[in-house]
Formats: sequence, C-alpha cells, structure tokens
Amino acid sequence: MDHTQVKQTHRTYHHQKRILVTGGAGFLGSHLCDHLLADGHDVLCVDNFFTGNKQNIRHILQNANFEFLRHDITFPLYVEVDDIYNLACPASPIHYQFDPVQTTKTSVHGAINVLGLAKRVKAKVLQASTSEIYGDPHQHPQQEAYWGNVNPIGLRACYDEGKRCAETLFFDYHRQHHLRIKVARIFNTYGPHMHPNDGRVVSSFIVQALKGEPITVFGDGSQSRSFCYVDDLIDAMVKLMNTPDDFTGPVNIGNPDEYSVLELARNIIRLTGSKSQIIHKPLPEDDPLKRKPDITMAKKHLGWTPKIGLEEGLEKTIAYFRAFIQK
Ligand SMILES: NC(=O)c1ccc[n+]([C@@H]2O[C@H](COP(=O)([O-])OP(=O)(O)OC[C@H]3O[C@@H](n4cnc5c(N)ncnc54)[C@H](O)[C@@H]3O)[C@@H](O)[C@H]2O)c1
Repeated sequence: MDHTQVKQTHRTYHHQKRILVTGGAGFLGSHLCDHLLADGHDVLCVDNFFTGNKQNIRHILQNANFEFLRHDITFPLYVEVDDIYNLACPASPIHYQFDPVQTTKTSVHGAINVLGLAKRVKAKVLQASTSEIYGDPHQHPQQEAYWGNVNPIGLRACYDEGKRCAETLFFDYHRQHHLRIKVARIFNTYGPHMHPNDGRVVSSFIVQALKGEPITVFGDGSQSRSFCYVDDLIDAMVKLMNTPDDFTGPVNIGNPDEYSVLELARNIIRLTGSKSQIIHKPLPEDDPLKRKPDITMAKKHLGWTPKIGLEEGLEKTIAYFRAFIQK
C-alpha cells in the first residue's frame, strides 16, 4: 500500500460514523441510507415494514456497511451508534389512519425510545417532523415560529398531535438532559420509492395517469401545495445533522415553489402522455388549503436551497413508477 492509500484509509476510518436510521426501509429512509452509505458511514436500518418494504433496500443489503434489523420502535432498542435519524412513522393519511392508536404510539413511544437510546449512548438525534404540525395554517408561508392550527380530535390528529408531542419530547430531553437534538419540519416530498397506493397526491396522480385511470382531484383543485424532490430533502437532512450543536431547529425543509393541485394533475398528464381525465371528489376532513414553507432559516443555517424543479423531479418519479408498474 503506498502512502496516499494509507492516508485515505486513515481519514475514512475517522470520519466513519455508526448511524441508526429508523424507518429506513420507507420512502425517505431508504434514500437516506443510500446517501449515508455513499458518504462512507456504517448504517443500521431499523424498520417494522408497516409501510416500508424490502425492495427499497434490496440494492444495499449486500453492502458490508449496511445492516437491517426488523424492529418496532415503540419498543426500546439497545444498540451502539453515534447519530440517529428518527423517521419511523407512517406518513400518508391512508396509512396513518389505518391504526391511529399505533400511529400516535409510534410517534410518542418511538420518540421516547430513540431519545432514551441517544441519552444512554450520547448520540446526536434528528427527528423527522412535519409541516402537518402547522395544521390548517393561518400564516402563509409558514415560519418555524408559527405554533399552528391543529384540530386535536380530528382524523388527522393521531399524526399531527403525535408529531407535535414528539417535538415536545425532543426539546424537553434537550433542556433536561442536554441531548444534542435536531428537528426537521419536512414539507411534501416526492420521488422514487414512494408507496404506489398511499393516497399522496404525486404518487396517486402518476399511478392513475400511467394506468389511464381518471385522476382524482379533491375539491376544485385550487388548494396549493409545494413539492420537494427527495434528493434535495435528504441533502438538507444530512446538512442539518451536521450543523453545530447549538443549532437544534425546528427548521422547515421543503421547496417553496407553489402549485395548485389541479396544475400538478395537468403537468403529470402532460409528462406521462396520458389520456386520463380529471375528476373531482369532496375534500377530506381537515385537508389544509395552503401549504408552503418559509425556508429562510434553512438557507441561513444549512446553506441549503432546493435545486431540483418540479418538472425534472416529476420526470424521475414517473420513470420509477413506469418501471414499477411494468414489473
Ligand atoms: N414524505 C413526506 O412528504 C414527509 C413529509 C413530512 C414528514 N415526513 C416524515 O418523514 C418520515 C418518513 O416518511 P416517508 O414518507 O418515508 O414514509 P414511509 O411510510 O415511506 O416511511 C416510514 C417508515 O417507517 C416504518 N415504520 C412505521 N412505523 C414503525 C414502527 N413502529 N417501528 C419501526 N418502523 C416503523 C415504515 O415501515 C416505513 O418504512 C416520517 O416520520 C414522516 O412523518 C415525510
């Protein structure tokens, strides 16, 4: 081995961390595992396969730096790690309303378990929180200082209030036990590995368009959403984890470009070349009318802005679902 090789090995060893990703077999988690492995880290992916699946991590199962553990995070976990990304939680209304009590348990007991683990092993811990903690917002675009407008007893509360309580726990562990925490408030994200039947607007429209089925728009479609491509989101999460210890967030991560749901449907029909018609159905309960992040804080503290526009991201996502449907 020549001198340069020795230096390289040495540097890699010192920079390699043992990183736990809960929910690592899900949509975002699987991309995060890819990213962390590519950065040379040792990744432990924990998932109970409630909404995630083996296909999302199949390509990394043979990687010597990757390990998978089937485990439900509502139960304690004893492992030695340096950093923890806590993503385990069903994220789409269809999935989180399937067993709402389990959804709240996953957010709340799950947070207690990962925070307990972080306390024991002195790990840094990042929570995948959500724009849903703002509920149906009275402020637009939403800034981190906004406390939100959430119905505590509605159908979405198991998710929204569960995530709000998880944020409370993160900040109390930080104040009381001096844990190093990071809280990311994630806005609508899309891309390959999304669940095809999760009812989320991008995946639903793409699958309907590719199958030539009617595209179901709730309400008149004038409600707005902002859509962040997954690669941008993961880049921001990793940057957040690596900010100085005195920066905890919460920090909004998302793409502020705003589109109406109807515009999204029309874009998807155009990009897929589909002959699908748009049909309208009643708005679900507590569906927010507007959702757009103010990302001033992310720009300042993470030096991050999203780079991938909607058209480019949709093309990549459509290519994934086209291949998926043909399988
Ligand atoms: N995708 C988005 O647009 C978005 C937006 C805001 C917040 N988030 C948050 O990001 C995280 C990941 O979301 P996603 O879109 O990848 O969803 P996902 O459903 O694809 O992934 C969640 C993963 O967690 C696993 N899981 C669920 N309950 C578990 C439990 N009790 N124990 C262990 N594993 C469990 C699931 O099997 C799945 O693999 C979630 O916490 C979600 O709330 C996502």
